[in-house]
Amino acid sequence: MNPIPPRDRRPQRIAVLPGDGIGKDVAAEAWKVLEAAAERFALPLELRRFDWDADRYLATGETMPAGALDEFRDHYSAIFMGAFGDPRVPDMKHAADILLGTRFGLDLYVNLRPVKLYDARLCPLKGKREQDVDFVVFRENTEGAYVGLGGNFKKHTADEVAVQEELHTRKGVDRILRAAFAWAVEHGKPRVCMADKSNVMRYAHDLWQRSFAAVAAEYPQIEAQHMFVDALAMQMVRAPEQFQVIVTNNMFGDILSDVGAALQGGLGVAPSANLHPGRTSMFEPVHGSAPKHAGSGRANPVGAVLSVVLMLQELGHAEAAGEVEAVVARSLREGQTTPDLGGRLTTTQVGDLLAQALLRQDSPVGRG
Ligand SMILES: NC(=O)c1ccc[n+]([C@@H]2O[C@H](COP(=O)([O-])OP(=O)(O)OC[C@H]3O[C@@H](n4cnc5c(N)ncnc54)[C@H](O)[C@@H]3O)[C@@H](O)[C@H]2O)c1
Repeated sequence: MNPIPPRDRRPQRIAVLPGDGIGKDVAAEAWKVLEAAAERFALPLELRRFDWDADRYLATGETMPAGALDEFRDHYSAIFMGAFGDPRVPDMKHAADILLGTRFGLDLYVNLRPVKLYDARLCPLKGKREQDVDFVVFRENTEGAYVGLGGNFKKHTADEVAVQEELHTRKGVDRILRAAFAWAVEHGKPRVCMADKSNVMRYAHDLWQRSFAAVAAEYPQIEAQHMFVDALAMQMVRAPEQFQVIVTNNMFGDILSDVGAALQGGLGVAPSANLHPGRTSMFEPVHGSAPKHAGSGRANPVGAVLSVVLMLQELGHAEAAGEVEAVVARSLREGQTTPDLGGRLTTTQVGDLLAQALLRQDSPVGRG
């Protein structure tokens, strides 16, 4: 979506934050593949690694240095993250500061999660083909139920009361809806489906309804469809082929996109982008830090590598993005995978295979 043009041949600086657990494992492979793509296509990329993880937080008490987000916004073209979360930090302080801090601090209001099935054998649904599972979820990323509004009254007593409020602004709803419609136009998709629960959430989701009608009117060439989120969840597993673009609020998008991840082969293959079109954006696999698999070689790096594809697209390197996606698709079709997908390769072996295929220039796109 509105890629930042590669401004002449000046380096595009990319901040890489591997994070914790398998975040480190998959980020190392994403880095490898990105370097191979940069070499193959002579991309002016400059990668810098930032080890802001649980170890550092536990040792120093610091999550992210002051001014880090300003530095990213002003001097970096993109940010890549592995995953955050460590059992030694039960309140998730460093993860919240770094991950949510980046999403909110850089106002990355679009959480884009493509759901694409590269090999029919990876889909848990009966009889679905690759072309039946190919849609994107636009999740509002800065508002809704995740803004932390609320509190406890009489906490830890039998009379405890907990209140957690949702926040939706007209500006915030308008801009995520517009991003979804604009993406549909740009990618030749005929329909956008908005999911809410306006039959029950009479105030907040009524705002979504009114905003949807107004934004849809700006895009008469796109069919505007609405479903209540419960019906949509059922349809996603019954007949996913009917969807091309789904747009929804923060919490519903979080849940629906994990259902989507299952349709495409599981958390190990699901990528995401956190975008503010035209500004420094952040890219990360959907999965978490899966501490029990850390360093075991069992982590699937494909979700991270497909997040690199989204990053390359956003940075204006469409050809390189297409090539990386093509080598990933081929490796999945050939069963060259980690154990979560039934293969026998380690995390590093999958990364090596993808990087080598790019460098040999015999990848599918290269052969025409
Ligand atoms: N964006 C993020 O950084 C993020 C997202 C979700 C969870 N988390 C954090 O990660 C930690 C672990 O959370 P969780 O166990 O609920 O979720 P998780 O995604 O880390 O792992 C759940 C399970 O999914 C499988 N899995 C996930 N990614 C995989 C991969 N790349 N390859 C193979 N299998 C994979 C594993 O079996 C794993 O046990 C927690 O601290 C949680 O808060 C972080």
